[in-house]
Amino acid sequence: MAGPTELGLIFTLLLSGSLCATPEKKVCQGTNIKLTLLGTVDDHYQILVKMYSNCTVVLKNLEITYMTEKHDLSFLRSIQEVGGYVLIGINSAPTIPLENLRIIRGHSLYADRFALVVLLNSNNSIGQGVNHLALTSLTEILKGGVKFIKNSHLCNVETIQWTDILNMKSHPEIIEAEPNLSTYCKQCDSSCHNGSCWGPGPQNCQTKTKVICAEQCSGRCKGLKPIDCCNEHCAAGCTGPRPTDCLACKDFQDEGTCKDACPRLMLYDPNTHQLAPNPDGKYSFGATCIKICPHNYVVTDHGACVRTCSPGTYEVDEGGVRKCKKCDGLCPKVCNGLGMGPLTNVLSINASNIDSFENCTKISGDVAILTTTINGDPHTKTSGLDPAKLNVFRTVKEITGYLLIQQWPENMLSLSAFENLEVILGRTKTATRIFLSCSQRGTFSLAVTQTKITHIGLRSLREISDGDVIISTNANLCYTSPDQWTRLFKSKDQTAKMIANADGDICANQSRTCDEMCTTDGCWGPGPTMCFVCKHYSRRKHCVASCNLLSGEPREYEVNKTCVDCDPECRLMNETLTCTGPGPDKCTFCANYKDGPHCVPHCPQGVPGEKDILIWKYADEKHVCQSCHENCTQGCTGPDLKDCKDFKRYRV
Ligand SMILES: *[C@@H]1O[C@H](CO)[C@@H](O)[C@H](O)[C@H]1NC(C)=O
Ligand SMILES: *[C@@H]1O[C@H](CO)[C@@H](O)[C@H](O)[C@H]1NC(C)=O
Ligand SMILES: *[C@@H]1O[C@H](CO)[C@@H](O)[C@H](O)[C@H]1NC(C)=O
Ligand SMILES: *[C@@H]1O[C@H](CO)[C@@H](O)[C@H](O)[C@H]1NC(C)=O
Ligand SMILES: *[C@@H]1O[C@H](CO)[C@@H](O)[C@H](O)[C@H]1NC(C)=O
Repeated sequence: MAGPTELGLIFTLLLSGSLCATPEKKVCQGTNIKLTLLGTVDDHYQILVKMYSNCTVVLKNLEITYMTEKHDLSFLRSIQEVGGYVLIGINSAPTIPLENLRIIRGHSLYADRFALVVLLNSNNSIGQGVNHLALTSLTEILKGGVKFIKNSHLCNVETIQWTDILNMKSHPEIIEAEPNLSTYCKQCDSSCHNGSCWGPGPQNCQTKTKVICAEQCSGRCKGLKPIDCCNEHCAAGCTGPRPTDCLACKDFQDEGTCKDACPRLMLYDPNTHQLAPNPDGKYSFGATCIKICPHNYVVTDHGACVRTCSPGTYEVDEGGVRKCKKCDGLCPKVCNGLGMGPLTNVLSINASNIDSFENCTKISGDVAILTTTINGDPHTKTSGLDPAKLNVFRTVKEITGYLLIQQWPENMLSLSAFENLEVILGRTKTATRIFLSCSQRGTFSLAVTQTKITHIGLRSLREISDGDVIISTNANLCYTSPDQWTRLFKSKDQTAKMIANADGDICANQSRTCDEMCTTDGCWGPGPTMCFVCKHYSRRKHCVASCNLLSGEPREYEVNKTCVDCDPECRLMNETLTCTGPGPDKCTFCANYKDGPHCVPHCPQGVPGEKDILIWKYADEKHVCQSCHENCTQGCTGPDLKDCKDFKRYRV
């Protein structure tokens, strides 16, 4: 079934320029439902009418199905462009009036191959079917082939010369219509070029804009002479030679002019030597360049308006614009914990629900690991959990409820599966068996009891927003102190109870104490990765004695007692610092070239600058980028016109 996002939303896009007869073009979304019937045949018709009335551009696919002779199909007449494929299937209406459709872009294809599919358009039990396919304006299919299957009433289409319409460079598959010899089919008009037509009479001749063109034309033409060639950016055909005279644009349409790309969003700024936002930049929306994406659309990092961000990116608001940004590592994913959604009445994590926690970064609800988790539960016929599966929790950074651990695999010496957990909000709390008798209502947001762990290992935990902590009856557990928790608490009412764990003196005798790189505040376990606070410096969650300032690779700089890598564009230095801060403009010397204050892998080579001028620079003997002569068009080796690899020649 189509979701509301595929069916809903038709809106008007303001355009100016000579391409449109009226200043307004209505864009509609289109569908991806193939031959699915939406409700009854009449419901289906009403949905199509609502979706396509007055629509000129269909962003995705145009799927016309289940239309019968009693339906008025004139609402299809407005459609001029389709971004995906066109499917005409299971119709018995005599004509499909798509006479203004000029171009099918084929950005998505039917069965991965076809841009135009016409199938099963005859109902033999009532002796009716589509006999006239009025695609008289269709002159361009940019990608994909055509397929005609089982249209026993269809006339004339077998005469169509597809090589004029299809992009033969994309090696389209062509499954042609069968000739129909029925007496109701009339021959093509004698005036039609090479006998190709969509129906009888001169008005139904196939309009040819490619096979008839003069040799000089690179693409389409409007007639036989060299003067009739269309501009290279045109698709479908044209009314004159300029990029403003196209019937449709091959790539993008910007205020009535066809172009190969929309005005860039970023341009090279000669003053800062960096890319900067272009005030005249535009986003692409289908094949149109626009200043702002329509409501409910987001911008991709390529500057396109889309309905949803692609995998690996997530939606953010940046200066009032909704954008898709690359996720830093895993994309944020909120999952239901115990007590929420489908786990509302589930008491513990177990073998049947653990897979629902894959890739979660936040758990909305609770996490409880009870004896039944690992041993299984004969009453509910749940089998035991493979302990290795607990590692799914390694992606979790936040738990909104509580974390209760009443049993833990004996071969895991710490709660390392939760080592990336940063925050326990404690919005819901638990009781443990030990305290159930005295307080029926739970008060704990973190409880760890009766495990064999030697250290807690929650080394990323920095906040327990609400609720108490109890760590009890863990016979082997060292590296603990009751006051280690207070720095994680948000309110004075929160308490921590440490009961019946390993004896502190025994831990000290066995040297199971914090690493020397830790401050006296304490630690989550042994080694320099478990300190609460580093005594000296930290590098990627390790405590270290010093940063790699003058030796060691990669070289680093220090900020807030943390060691951070220098930019790869900085030259490695031995006697002095390699860099003083982040990024390629804080290097002491550049590894490659220097453009203004920035270290760069190479000097700007044809980078777009203001007013569509490309910026070309060469590197001087000091590896500093210098501008080429203003008339150079392909770069240069020095400052003068004679140093250009190529330069502007003026026509006499
Ligand atoms: C289509 O446009 C016509 C004329 O502009 C208007 O009267 C009609 O209401 C529109 N139909 C829809 C469904 O928007
Ligand atoms: C053919 O038409 C009849 C009568 O309208 C209808 O009941 C039947 O479902 C149609 N068959 C197909 C294949 O569309
Ligand atoms: C005429 O049509 C035939 C069959 O479609 C095709 O093979 C031939 O190349 C066409 N001739 C011209 C001049 O387009
Ligand atoms: C195990 O998980 C399933 C699915 O969430 C749930 O229906 C069942 O009650 C759980 N069993 C226990 C003992 O928690
Ligand atoms: C988890 O993330 C990995 C890597 O991004 C991906 O391949 C996998 O399909 C994801 N699994 C689920 C259930 O989302």
